[in-house]
Amino acid sequence: MSQAETQSKLYLPSDAVVASAHVSGMDAYHALCKEAETDYEGFWARQARELLSWKTPFTTVLDESNAPFFKWFEDGTLNASYNCLDRNIERGLGDKTAIIFEADGGEVTKVTYSELLAKTCQYANALKSLGVTKGDRVVIYISMSIDGVAAMQACARIGATHSVVFGGFSAQSLRDRIEDTGAVAVITADHQVRGGKPLALKGIVDEALGLGGCDAVKNVLVVKRTGSPINMVEGRDLWLADLAASQPTTCEPEWVGAEHPLFLLYTSGSTGKPKGVQHSTGGYLLHAALTTQWTFDLKADDVFWCTADIGWVTGHTYITYGPLALGGTEIVFEGVPTYPDAGRFWKMIQDHKVSIFYTAPTAIRSLIKAAEANDAVHPKSYDLSSLRLLGSVGEPINPAAWEWYYKNVGGSRCPIVDTFWQTETGGHMITPLPGATPMVPGSCTLPFPGIQAAIVDETGKDVPNGQGGILVVKRPWPSMIRTIWGDNERFVKSYYPADFQGKYYLAGDGAIRDAETGYFTITGRIDDVLNVSGHRMGTMEIESALVSCTELVAEAAVVGRPDETTGEAVCAFVVLKRPAPTGDEAKAIAKQLRDHVGKEIGPIAKPKDIRFGDNLPKTRSGKIMRRLLRSIAKGETITQDTSTLENPAILDQLGQAY
Ligand code: WTA
Repeated sequence: MSQAETQSKLYLPSDAVVASAHVSGMDAYHALCKEAETDYEGFWARQARELLSWKTPFTTVLDESNAPFFKWFEDGTLNASYNCLDRNIERGLGDKTAIIFEADGGEVTKVTYSELLAKTCQYANALKSLGVTKGDRVVIYISMSIDGVAAMQACARIGATHSVVFGGFSAQSLRDRIEDTGAVAVITADHQVRGGKPLALKGIVDEALGLGGCDAVKNVLVVKRTGSPINMVEGRDLWLADLAASQPTTCEPEWVGAEHPLFLLYTSGSTGKPKGVQHSTGGYLLHAALTTQWTFDLKADDVFWCTADIGWVTGHTYITYGPLALGGTEIVFEGVPTYPDAGRFWKMIQDHKVSIFYTAPTAIRSLIKAAEANDAVHPKSYDLSSLRLLGSVGEPINPAAWEWYYKNVGGSRCPIVDTFWQTETGGHMITPLPGATPMVPGSCTLPFPGIQAAIVDETGKDVPNGQGGILVVKRPWPSMIRTIWGDNERFVKSYYPADFQGKYYLAGDGAIRDAETGYFTITGRIDDVLNVSGHRMGTMEIESALVSCTELVAEAAVVGRPDETTGEAVCAFVVLKRPAPTGDEAKAIAKQLRDHVGKEIGPIAKPKDIRFGDNLPKTRSGKIMRRLLRSIAKGETITQDTSTLENPAILDQLGQAY
């Protein structure tokens, strides 16, 4: 790309945006990067002192002695919930609205900082009354709610490590996570309500516990959402509100070391079993607060809305922790973007005068489709003048969707922060800063100050700009993953592989830097991880789910294919224990398999396409030809050499998707 072409694609923040931003102008950005480069520990220590309140100040910053098990601010003590709640009240924000909750049906509930603290303390005391103490794990399986945020904060308050499981995961997935964490309690709700429909939560918890292996669980605490009948097991299950009602509204925070595990969050990797990503308290909270301040430029009078679910890392960092740590006001939304119609997001921005809006490209793409078909749900039919900043997360945003978002939602005046990060990174890694970075649609632009992101080849050597490679981070940063829960070896193998002499953090994504600007563009995962609607899934996880349908399936292979709306779609190639079906029979079996995957993992993992063959394309040495499967999944004409195929005739069978 020539200089002129690059320049013509740049979108500059307006002078007004630059003037008022926390990081104002590119000189300020470069100065921060320089500060981090010259005195790395000094840079992070300064941020940690300015943004967080410490009970015991830290005297050490980064400890690399047991790399890659890095430690930050290790001798400092603090409490995350104190930092998110009490501290704001001490600053005079007690009556400020912390959360504006909008239910699926549109009812609005607001809580102030004082009210949220009181609720959190009652929940914390309720947990304590059941014997839950510092270091215990608590699984939270709940939908978007003030109770969900308070439950997380309550765990943090008493030093219990929470592990939130997304409400869309099945009983089997929930069981696996409960077992792996060794949780002593589960916090859930009777039901969740999405798109006008009640869905079971407590019933799934019962099913999960019934599957066995969860013996450590002593209690299940249930939030009443719909009040429809559920089963309560005597001596084990309790209504959280009843238990909390008699508890004091104050609770002395448990002061924990900075490295104390704040939470575990399971995510998919290359191999079958999801991994429990372990995050610290001090370093994690620091980056949550710092990125909320610099990337989202959050200020006292903003109304911030991150549409992610608290079951994902985005909801942890940019709902439960970051905005609250800064004393912000935020929206928590229970429902879905298309109910009662596809104008829901725009209506909520209008009603609540949202000023900062953070969502995923998948949502944008599906809303574009709806808006183009129906003016009534087009952003132009709503007053979105309160918006001043937009964000994108979870997957690459294609330039066309970026431009639409910029023009139609942001009125061509709001910067878009395309934030690249991962469950493992805790917070933003590569992103524009709204009052500094000129934007290029489809590029996450430049590393956050202090983050040493780079692109290298297989041997760890830097590749020149303009040439694609492997995305790494060269220095440890405060909010990085500490380990995989219970599996240090897998942590080292996955993130600090010997290929780079164990020196660099391997993100698992490919990337390229623009030859002129040095801007990063993420080119996609380099491992067997799919990104469907911004949800991470391992191909092997879905393969295992398919072959666990033992009465039907002999063999399965799963690949991703591009999809206009969801980014990627799951495409499964299945060999049955009977001849490959066709027509109605194939359709019926495909449905049965989808339901099976839904039961094993959750509805989000259901394959969009299922293709049947009498066997899978393999080389003569027996290796599945995944590249060929990807071409078939995309509907490409096969130009690859298929001469090594054991059975070329199956290509015809696999041509049909059900
Ligand atoms: C992808 C979500 C391009 C990437 C916060 C990463 C992105 C994975 C972006 C992590 C972005 C996330 N541009 N790709 N702005 N943000 N990704 O753990 O492949 O659910 O590795 O964390 O999503 O997904 P995770």
